[in-house]
Amino acid sequence: MAEGFQAPRGTLDWLPQRSAARRAMIERFRQIFEGAGYGEAMTPIFEDKALFARTAGESSEVVGKEMYLFEDQGGREMALRPEFTASIVRLYLENGLSRDPQPVRLWSAGNCYRFAAVQRGRYREFTQVNAEAIGSDDPAIDAELIALQLRWFESLGLDGLEVRLNTIGDRADREPYLDQLRAYIDAHSSEVDDEVRRQRDLNPLRAFDTKDPASAAIMADAPKITDAVSDEAAAHFAAVRSFLDARGVNYTLDPTLVRGLDYYSRTTWEISWPALGAQSGIGGGGRYDGLAELIGGAPTPGVGFACGIERVLLALEDQDRSPAPERQMDVFFAIFCDAARPRLHALMDQARARGVAAEADLAGRAVKGQMKQADRIGAALTVVCGDDEWARSVCVVRSMASGEQTEVSLDELVEHLHNAKMGTA
Ligand code: HAM
Repeated sequence: MAEGFQAPRGTLDWLPQRSAARRAMIERFRQIFEGAGYGEAMTPIFEDKALFARTAGESSEVVGKEMYLFEDQGGREMALRPEFTASIVRLYLENGLSRDPQPVRLWSAGNCYRFAAVQRGRYREFTQVNAEAIGSDDPAIDAELIALQLRWFESLGLDGLEVRLNTIGDRADREPYLDQLRAYIDAHSSEVDDEVRRQRDLNPLRAFDTKDPASAAIMADAPKITDAVSDEAAAHFAAVRSFLDARGVNYTLDPTLVRGLDYYSRTTWEISWPALGAQSGIGGGGRYDGLAELIGGAPTPGVGFACGIERVLLALEDQDRSPAPERQMDVFFAIFCDAARPRLHALMDQARARGVAAEADLAGRAVKGQMKQADRIGAALTVVCGDDEWARSVCVVRSMASGEQTEVSLDELVEHLHNAKMGTA
C-alpha cells in the first residue's frame, strides 16, 4: 500500500461483520433506554473548543492533551467532540428543555475523538453510547443509570463486571479538601514521583491515579474526599446505594475513584471488565450538578455515563461472542443462460421489494461456482434457470436443506418466493 493511504493511526475500519455487531449493540442500548423513557439526541461531531475546555477542564488529560482542534475558515477554534456530556447539556440549555417535565432523559451513540496513546482498546476515533438525565438530583436516577448500564452489558452476554462507586461531594466541599490533600502531598514530597508532584498543582485528585507503586502506597494513606463531603452529599450517596442495594447490584466502594473529567460532583462510577487488562474501563459516569453553570446556564443537576463500544466488542470477541445476528440470505439466483439474466434480475428485484433477501452471481461463475456460492452465503433456496428452463419460461426452486426441487413458472416466481419466506408455500 502506498505511503499515506492507510487509515489514520488509532482509527478502525469497520468490515461488515463487526459493523453488524456494532449496530446490534447500539440497537440493544436503544431498546433498553427507550424502554426506560430515554429519547435519542444527536449533537454535532464538532463544537466550539471552549465548550469542552470549560466543562471537562483545562487540567484534564482529555482537554489538555487529547483534543483534536482545528480552526475553521471563519477563524473559530473548533474541537472534534471528545465526549457527549458537554454537548448534551448545551443542547438542553439552548433548546430551553428546562421547561419540559424534568428530568430530561437522552441517549446518544456516535464517534468521539481523542488524541490518545494508541493501544488495544484505546483509539483516536472511537464510539460511545451515552445516556444523560438532566434536571433532577434524585439519587434514584444515579442508581437507575447504573442498573440500566449493567442490563445492557448483561444483554450482550458480559458478566463478571466490576462496578466501582464513589462520591466526590459538591464543589464547595472540594476546596477545603484539596488544601488538605495538597498539604499531605507536600509533607510526603520526597517520597512521591514527579507525576504526583505535577498533579498536586494541576488537579490533586488525579494524584490517586499514579502508576508508581511507591507513590501509590503513600497516596493510599492520603485523606479521602469521601471523608470530607458535606452531610447533604453523604446523605445523597447513601440514598444512591440504597437504590442499588434494593436491586441487588454488586459494587465496590472506592474512595480513590476520581474520573478524568473535571465537571463531576457527588456520585462517580466506573465499570470494568478486568480481563481486558490495561484498557478494562468499559464504561464510566457520574453526576455533574455544576456543569450547566460552567457554560452559562442556570444551576441544573445532571447525571449520566458513557461506554466505549470498541472495548465492549473486544471483551465479547475475547469470549468468541458476537451480538450480531447471523446474516441470512433467503434466495440465490443461479442463472446458467445469459439471455435469461435481465428478466431474472428484474424478478430478483421484485422479490427483494417483497422483503425476500436475494442475490445472484455477479462474477461470471460457471455452474459449479454458482452452486458453491449459494452454499457459501447460506441461502435457504436456490432459483436455477438454464437454457431449457428459460425456453419454457420456468425455473427450478431448490431447497438447500432438503434438496427438494419445484418447477415454478417465471410469472409466479416472486409470489412463490415471498410465500416460501413467509412459510406459506
Ligand atoms: P470517559 O470515562 O472519558 O467518560 O469515557 C467513557 C468510556 O468511553 C470509557 O469507559 C471507555 O470505554 C470509552 N473510551 C474513552 N476513551 C477511549 C478511547 N480513547 N478509545 C476507546 N474507548 C474510549 C466520558 O466520556 C463521560 N462523558 C461519561 C459521562 C456521561 N459522564 C456523565 N455523563
